[in-house]
Amino acid sequence: MKRILVVSSANMDMVMNVDFVPVGGQTVIDKGSYSYVPGGKGANSAVAFSRLGAKCVFLTKLGKDANGDALLSLYEKEGMDVSYIKRDPTVASGLAAILVENTGQNRIIVFPGANSKIELDTVSEAIKSKPDALYMQFEINYDAIIHAANEASKAGIPIFIDAGPANKDFPLDKLPEVTVFSPNESETEAFTGIAPTSEEKCKEAALKLLDLVKAKYIVIKLGGRGAYIFDGVNGVIKAPYDMPVIDTTAAGDAFTAALTLEYLRSGDMMSACDFANAAGSITVSRHGASSSIPNEAEVTEFLNLRRENK
Ligand code: RIB
Repeated sequence: MKRILVVSSANMDMVMNVDFVPVGGQTVIDKGSYSYVPGGKGANSAVAFSRLGAKCVFLTKLGKDANGDALLSLYEKEGMDVSYIKRDPTVASGLAAILVENTGQNRIIVFPGANSKIELDTVSEAIKSKPDALYMQFEINYDAIIHAANEASKAGIPIFIDAGPANKDFPLDKLPEVTVFSPNESETEAFTGIAPTSEEKCKEAALKLLDLVKAKYIVIKLGGRGAYIFDGVNGVIKAPYDMPVIDTTAAGDAFTAALTLEYLRSGDMMSACDFANAAGSITVSRHGASSSIPNEAEVTEFLNLRRENK
């Protein structure tokens, strides 16, 4: 079983399902619903790793508050190694306000709280435990990301980066070589100034990304259009599976985790992308963040059914 170290964020998501998003100064009484769902880009990917068959070692920081308690107990229930999760009594756990419209499209505002307080010593300790891979996003303090990447590189541990959320100011030049660098459409545009609207534009953007970050593969997540895989020479768009879109929250987090795990297991990026597309497609067909992420049996059954019906 692959042991994946996720150094990333944890949030409680306050999710509102709404008819439409009000404009400035407008108050709307909505007949939709709201709920609190465990989320955070890192935690969503950590849940995906656990459900898809990896041993996930989750390193994050939580406040010493009720949201922190609820999040920690979920990670324990999912079977994660939580020994590198620290709690800080002086700061609140991360919180995300998410508005989901009828189309499934979401708008997210994150209050990082404890996520911006990850300590470098804790990161060094976790890297010393020699995981099979290091997986990160950009939702925590940048010094922890850069430190983790450089320590992992020195230890010969492969690095996988999901480049969300978009921030063109992240110092990509401080990262060592990574195996996969995976932004979504808006993150790609933020880093390169190129919107990946066609296969040609994807290639242009991927080449520009390779000027900014050393990576074996650039994987651009294209939402409903699938994903563009570029190995430095050749690129291909892998189409997603057709599923009703209920809520896109966490689909990208599940996709990149699934891609990472399946690539580590098979060494084949194309089949890893199929597996990841299936995990992402199932995730968009369900409500919420971590609550929508499938397990390995569901993804395998989904893929088998699609192959049989071809
Ligand atoms: O990618 C979705 C996640 O982004 C949400 O769960 C929210 O917490 C934000 O981190």
